[in-house]
Amino acid sequence: MTTWTGQGVEVHVQEVALRDGLQSQATLVPTEKKIELIDRLSASGLRKIEVSSFVSPRAIPQLADAEAVFHGITRRPGVIYAALAPNVRGMERAISARADEVNLVMSASESHNRANLRSSSEASFHAIKEAAALAATAGMRIAASLSCSFGCPLEGEIQATAILKWCQRLHEETGIHSISLCDTTGMAYPALVQHLVGLVRKSCPAVSIALHFHNTRGLGVANVFAGLEAGVIHFDAALAGIGGCPYAPGATGNICTEDLIHALELSDYRCGVDLDVLIEAARHLEHLLGQTTPGQVMKAGRRLQGHPAAKHDAREPESLSGRSSTAPTDGPVQGFATSTRTPRG
Ligand code: COA
Ligand code: ZN
Repeated sequence: MTTWTGQGVEVHVQEVALRDGLQSQATLVPTEKKIELIDRLSASGLRKIEVSSFVSPRAIPQLADAEAVFHGITRRPGVIYAALAPNVRGMERAISARADEVNLVMSASESHNRANLRSSSEASFHAIKEAAALAATAGMRIAASLSCSFGCPLEGEIQATAILKWCQRLHEETGIHSISLCDTTGMAYPALVQHLVGLVRKSCPAVSIALHFHNTRGLGVANVFAGLEAGVIHFDAALAGIGGCPYAPGATGNICTEDLIHALELSDYRCGVDLDVLIEAARHLEHLLGQTTPGQVMKAGRRLQGHPAAKHDAREPESLSGRSSTAPTDGPVQGFATSTRTPRG
């Protein structure tokens, strides 16, 4: 029975805008701007930030400066600065850059794995196994991300048996305790989330499940609530809702961090994050990218943020139409609204 209230339960949000968010951006964000953004995010109360990827710079040129970003950030005590990696080379780079945690990635979809990591899922699993062994010798925290867990744009439905097989093998053969089920192109829906999380919890009870949703079909936050109902408390989200895998056709942004925190706090979940700091950071990111981003709360404001009533002119319509060039548009009222940018779509 769904209650829709968190009753103070703590929810952990990993911020992925600097990794998933930037990996498919046409604009290359300068290293110092990334560093500034991470430092802003560190100050928001978020406890885990994915800083970059240690992948081939040819595959993801947007994140080729991962070492320099790690080097430049101010590390705030209590914040975990994580990175994504697909193999031993990535793990070596993460260790020397002093990442706090490495997120090892493979896809549950054979076709997506080949497109994204240029090998079979089995070969990527072995690359993870090798990287996990190196992590153990270096005392590095690790987690795994299983892309296309809720469906694949190239293959369609991914069988639950495949997800369970990879979760079991990731846990038993590599010692990974935390696995993120990733909805790479927004194919999840609440009933599927509950079903799959239930199956994984049953077959891998020692695994801590995280959920990574993209809002490609507008179901992102609904999926989070389905995940909460199924007992998950770890979620990924990206500031301003940017993101997407460049090797997954049709990929669009992650669920939006500040929209998610806003929704969770209304529902009495505790995130420990200062929403105002996040909203400011989201506007800063939008400015940096020079484009309108999918985030909504940064445009609309919090639920009870007041707006002045529109001024109604008692005169006849003709005189109003004569003033149409200065009349307010149907967007936020100028001079009071939190943002005057036009929402996308
Ligand atoms: N970091 C930096 N360079 C790496 C690397 C890593 N983790 N792994 C491999 N490389 C380099 C190799 O050294 C080699 O360099 P060279 O050509 O200068 O000798 C080159 O990449 C090719 O190596 P190879 O093992 O043949 O890899 P590949 O070309 O088959 O690519 C991956 C495999 C996994 C490295 C690449 O597809 C990749 O990085 N994908 C990541 C995609 C991604 O991040 N997607 C979004 C997140 S889900
Ligand atoms: Zn993603």
